[in-house]
Formats: sequence, C-alpha cells, structure tokens
Amino acid sequence: MSGHGTIIPMTSNPCGPLTGEAHVPGDKSISHRSLILGAMAVGETNISGLLEGEDVLDTAKAMRAFGADVIEHGNGEWTVHGVGVGGFAEPDNVIDCGNSGTGVRLIMGAMATSGVTATFTGDASLNKRPMARVTDPIALFGATSVGRSGGRLPMTIVGASAPVSVNYEVPMPSAQVKSAVLLAGLNAPGQTVVIEKEATRDHTERMLKGFGAEISVEETNQGRVITLNGQPELKPQTIVVPRDPSSAAFPVCAAIITPGSDVLVPNIGLNPTRAGLFTTLREMGADLTYENEREEGGEPVADLRAKFSPDLKGIDVDPARAASMIDEYPVLSVVAAFASGNTVMKGVKELRVKESDRIDAMATGLRLNGVKVDEGDDWWVVHGLGHGNIPGGATCESHLDHRIAMSFMVLGMAANNPVSVDNGNPIATSFPIFEPLMSALGANVVRTDT
Ligand code: S3P
Repeated sequence: MSGHGTIIPMTSNPCGPLTGEAHVPGDKSISHRSLILGAMAVGETNISGLLEGEDVLDTAKAMRAFGADVIEHGNGEWTVHGVGVGGFAEPDNVIDCGNSGTGVRLIMGAMATSGVTATFTGDASLNKRPMARVTDPIALFGATSVGRSGGRLPMTIVGASAPVSVNYEVPMPSAQVKSAVLLAGLNAPGQTVVIEKEATRDHTERMLKGFGAEISVEETNQGRVITLNGQPELKPQTIVVPRDPSSAAFPVCAAIITPGSDVLVPNIGLNPTRAGLFTTLREMGADLTYENEREEGGEPVADLRAKFSPDLKGIDVDPARAASMIDEYPVLSVVAAFASGNTVMKGVKELRVKESDRIDAMATGLRLNGVKVDEGDDWWVVHGLGHGNIPGGATCESHLDHRIAMSFMVLGMAANNPVSVDNGNPIATSFPIFEPLMSALGANVVRTDT
C-alpha cells in the first residue's frame, strides 16, 4: 500500500533568492524500467541511483509478487534477481500500483504474455485513469482482461498462455503504451512491431538493447517503427539511473521566477525525448545554461544552471515538442504567468488523462491566484502578468497529483502572497526530498496542518 491516505496541506510563502545546488532524485521512468527488466532477465541486475519514491517502490513490490528477488541496500542501491522472460509466477494477492500509471501499465504489458493471472488496483487517482489503451493491444497477444466500466482499475488480466506476436500502431503519443506492447512482445515468438507517429520517451528501447534484446528502430514517413525479436534471454545489467529532468524542472523553474536566484542542478539526463521544457524555457528568455555537457551510460547529461530571468516573454510552444515535455506543462504554466504576453500550449490532450486532468487542475488554481487562463479540449493559454504582478494568496487542489502540488508550491515562491495546496502528500511519489531540497535553496515551504 502506498501512503496516499494521509492529507498534508502545504503552503509556499514568497521567498528570497534561491541559491546553491539541487541534487534531485533518480529518473522515475528509468527506475521503473530497471526493476521490471531486471525482473525479466536471468541473473543479478545491480541498480544505483534508483528513485525511492512511492511509485517506484510499488513497482519493486510488484516485481517481488511476480517472483523476482528484489533487494534494497540503501541509498538508491538495489539488486534484482530476475526470473527470465516468461518466468513470472502468479501473485498470491492483488497488485497495488498506488498512484503510478507507468507502473501499472508497464507491468500489465510485462505479464500479458506470461500465462499468469493478476489483479491490479491503485489509489483514487489511478483507478480513474484509462487502461483500455493497454488492454486493447495486449488482447492482440491473447491476454484477456476484466475491469470496471470504462476500462478502469481494479482489473484482472489473464496472461496469454500461447501468445502470438503483434504489429501495433499506438493510437496516442504514449511511451507507457509503447512500452507495454514491447514488454508483452518479449515473450511472444517471432517479431513484434510497434509504430509510433510521434516520438515519445525511448528509455524502454534503449534499455532493452542494453539487456541484450534484438531491437531495431527505424524512422519512416509512417513514424518510428520499432521491431523486437521475441523470446530473448535478457542478460542482467549494471544500471546507473540518471537524475530526473522532470524533477529538475521544479528547482529550475523556481530559480527562473524568483528574484536574485542562481541554482545549479547537477547530473541531469538530457535525452532529447525528455528535454523539451529546457528548450522552451530558453525560447521564453530564461537564463538557463548547460554546463559540463557529457555522455553517461549512453544518455546525454549536463549540469543545469538556472538564474532569475526578469524578462520572460510568452511564446507559442511548438506542439511537436509536446511529448518531450508532457510532464512539465504544469510547472511551465507557472513560469508563463511570470512572462509578459501569452503562452499558448497546443496538442496536449494527453494532459487530461494524467494523475489528474492537468489542464483543468492548473487552470483552476492559477485563476484562483489571479492569473487568466483560457482552455479547450487539447490546448490552453496562460495570460502572463509579468514579474511581480502575480497576486497569489489562494489554496489550490492537488487532485492527488504530485506535479500539480509541486507546481503550486513553485508559484508561491515568487507570487505576492503565499500559495497553498490542500494535499502535498502525492509529492512523495516522485520527489520525496522536495521539501528539504527546496528549503535548502532558500524556499519557505511549510506543512500547514500541524
Ligand atoms: C512515462 C510516460 C508518460 C509520462 C509519465 C511517465 C513513462 O506517460 O507522462 O509520467 O515512464 O513511460 P504517457 O506515456 O502516458 O504519455
């Protein structure tokens, strides 16, 4: 069980300059995949820098339930003794994935061709989210599923005992769906082909290659065509998880809007399928530089330096960049409030089916704090007021969504009055050290219920 039961109201008070170094936790996407692929390899995978947030810990528990030996050594060091492709055992209880769409969707894919049956559930946020996007393609492999109306959790999946390979075009830009299909394809004989029209984060493809799977990626006019040869023996790996650009986004954006700030955020993974926010911030006129650019474990990495940027301007964010910054729109909308002019964000329908409806959650909270926002089904516009002109002063609902809670905390740092959230508890899913890290930089974020 994850700890979402406790309600933790939080307030962020306007603060002075943010300065110093922000060592953010490991990448959430890569952490989930390390545990799952480690569990599907034969032998011992060693992981360092694993994000020990609730989402990832729920995935670790799930891998144990499917029979892998998952050992925590402390300080982000973990060992996984895998059971091999097709080696999952039947869990003897319900798999609770907490708040994590990535966890549940990737695990559903991984078990879909293993011949075992498992029942999945999550918290109130996860149990509202659409799962048909995964159950549709895994049905093509031969898996069956029964869930609540609208394809929601709790849901039971009966893995295919005689899986067939699949050729599947992912209908929405979703790395989770792409990854679920690839993980299911691991235990199907023959070649599984996945086509995505827009490139989404490619950690699964990179990691499968690292674990020794035969996988190729071809850019065609149809999109990215990924071909995976089924039933490989995955070889255990040593994985160093890079730090999460999606978590780095919070201290970076906070520094950009808070007068006098100068923050260094070291060792951030800058995989092009993840780094769209930083390009966008620079287009808006943010003083954001990459220092010490290098390659680590096949991924581009740099130290980010973010400084207060008084002359931000609103821009039309390139919709082609949406997938590479999909988790960063909430905090971008906060920065947009401090820019002069409008920031237009289009092609972002997927934001409506994240941990919350992120357009609605941010638009409502920004309006309560004095910022005008317009929205449509797949677009929104923040009317920037310019630096020093954001009233603040309101309490916003986080809707069990970590990124909504953290975004409003960032808003409070540079607004004219404190900004509160009804529940900051979900922050622990992805960024358990958010409060001490931001406080060490000079933020004034407090829990307000005690
Ligand atoms: C993720 C993919 C994205 C992202 C999520 C993590 C992943 O979701 O929003 O936080 O690790 O594959 P979608 O693939 O549904 O867009």
